[in-house]
Amino acid sequence: MQMPDGLPAEIDLSRPSAARVYDYFLGGAHNFEIDRQLAEQIAAMTPNLAATMRAGREFLRRAVRTLLDAGIDQFLDIGSGIPTVGNVHEVAQAANPKARVVYVDIDPVAVAHSRELLAGDELTGVIHGDLREPERILAGARDLGLLDFGRPLGILLAGVVHFVPDADRPGDVLATLRAAAAPGSHLVISHSTFEDQPQEMLDAQRLSARTDTEITLRSRAEVTSFFGDWTLLEPGVVHMPLWRPDSPSDVDDHPERFGAFGGVARYDQPTA
Ligand SMILES: C[S@@+](CC[C@H](N)C(=O)[O-])C[C@H]1O[C@@H](n2cnc3c(N)ncnc32)[C@H](O)[C@@H]1O
Repeated sequence: MQMPDGLPAEIDLSRPSAARVYDYFLGGAHNFEIDRQLAEQIAAMTPNLAATMRAGREFLRRAVRTLLDAGIDQFLDIGSGIPTVGNVHEVAQAANPKARVVYVDIDPVAVAHSRELLAGDELTGVIHGDLREPERILAGARDLGLLDFGRPLGILLAGVVHFVPDADRPGDVLATLRAAAAPGSHLVISHSTFEDQPQEMLDAQRLSARTDTEITLRSRAEVTSFFGDWTLLEPGVVHMPLWRPDSPSDVDDHPERFGAFGGVARYDQPTA
């Protein structure tokens, strides 16, 4: 297959990529025919999935604002995806022009587009990294010199931990990330679930096996465990639209239909 101009040679265009399928659902332009075919197939099985992805972006925006209100001015966004409207650095820098953001993604297309978009922005950085190798991500972030791990940090894991199968020990991955953060840091997670889901949603999620990044659906209890002993902010781990909606009217009659839990926790200074 011909490689489109300007994209890294390591991109595998013979398989759809989760980042590009997601970009298509969000109305982005950074996707190829193979991604659109899979996206259309998923959409035909579950017309709700595009709305789910938008609900995920909305949850992330509300969570980032909450962190900004708590004084967080530096963010490590892992599984950041292909840049689209309302990126984390845009939300953060609108509230605090000095906010710093390091984006990390496993997908070379997402990384290439992020680098292009952020060229010349000295407060943001991009790392090609794998959440399953958190030490490498942390080392890469330290090398960039943008984040100060001695100060409170916002760790964002929106729609990405479900790409880490149980065999790759997501609990250990999370523990490594939490251990690198200073008191006052916050952790944001959204994660697909099988709880309260109709069969067609479960079938559609199974199509993710065709990408390099298959999804593992998890229970509320499993998602909650990823926050470790950090203090969960109200209202806890809930279906995404129920997490601090901007207005009660924004909450769908069936918030469970978006198929994912969201939550935010804070690392409180351990008392002696
Ligand atoms: C559903 S998108 C979420 C994008 C963004 N965080 C958001 O909420 O809008 C998931 C992203 O995670 C990335 N991803 C999947 N597995 C990953 C891994 N092991 N390490 C880093 N990124 C990963 C995909 O490439 C994709 O860009």
